[in-house]
Amino acid sequence: MTEKYLEGKVALVTGSSRGIGRAIALALAQRGADVVVHCLRKQEAARQVATEIEALGQRAIVVKANLAEPAKIEPMFETIESQFGRCDIFVGNAASGVPKNILELTDKHWDWTMDINARSILHCVKRVVPHMEQSGWGRIVNITSPGGQRTLPYYSAVGLSKAVVESLTRYLAVDLARKGIIVNAVSPGLVKTEALSAFPVDLQNVVNFASQRTPAGRLVKPEEIGQVVAFLCSEGAAMIVGQTIVVDGGYGVVL
Ligand SMILES: NC(=O)c1ccc[n+]([C@@H]2O[C@H](COP(=O)([O-])OP(=O)(O)OC[C@H]3O[C@@H](n4cnc5c(N)ncnc54)[C@H](OP(=O)(O)O)[C@@H]3O)[C@@H](O)[C@H]2O)c1
Repeated sequence: MTEKYLEGKVALVTGSSRGIGRAIALALAQRGADVVVHCLRKQEAARQVATEIEALGQRAIVVKANLAEPAKIEPMFETIESQFGRCDIFVGNAASGVPKNILELTDKHWDWTMDINARSILHCVKRVVPHMEQSGWGRIVNITSPGGQRTLPYYSAVGLSKAVVESLTRYLAVDLARKGIIVNAVSPGLVKTEALSAFPVDLQNVVNFASQRTPAGRLVKPEEIGQVVAFLCSEGAAMIVGQTIVVDGGYGVVL
């Protein structure tokens, strides 16, 4: 049985209608947190995640907001405040992108990806920090990717935005740690989710190649990212500050 060390806490996980965000939302609920399931288009899927969380004995609500539009962030927090009156954990997971190589990038591609993947995290954090300050406890975990530090085909827009997410994580961590608000990032290796179908590549080839190259012999599962995020929200992880934790089965250490 999983220890419920997050009992009494409320977590907002952006992009938790599916994929890695869904697994993070469930992992936090398994440890006792009530969860705000955020989505953009897939409201039905988000409702199903909320139902799964309720089956674990926790409260869950669904909020919808396009994180490309800063004006949509305020109503999302007003809903959270009216339903829960607090927010203790923020997971910046939602992401979008355009599958282009670097010289094909237009300003529109750049803005779209930066706004959703990086700038929205700062907007959400500014909104959530007063709640965390009030209780003297908060956890912020941003989801980045190896493309923030290295290059991948068609990944330039997302890779640039993830480099910003990792730097943002460090700046936030330094400013907030003394207030009991601990900020880190998690960088998963390749995880089989719907996101992969956006890339114009032979997916099976990519999966086979990555599985074979990974020292652990397989891809990372969404649940394994959820477990690491939940650990970062535990007291045992309180002195991990401003770090990007790589969860890739060892892929990144092989030359
Ligand atoms: N999959 C991988 O291999 C991998 C590897 C490393 C890092 N990551 C990172 O892990 C995170 C989750 O990835 P994933 O593979 O689970 O992605 P995914 O399956 O594509 O899910 C993306 C989530 O983000 C939401 N979203 C997309 N655009 C949005 C917008 N404009 N406003 C608000 N929400 C928006 C989606 O909402 P709707 O469902 O409502 O559309 C969905 O919940 C991302 O930060 C990604 O970069 C993934």
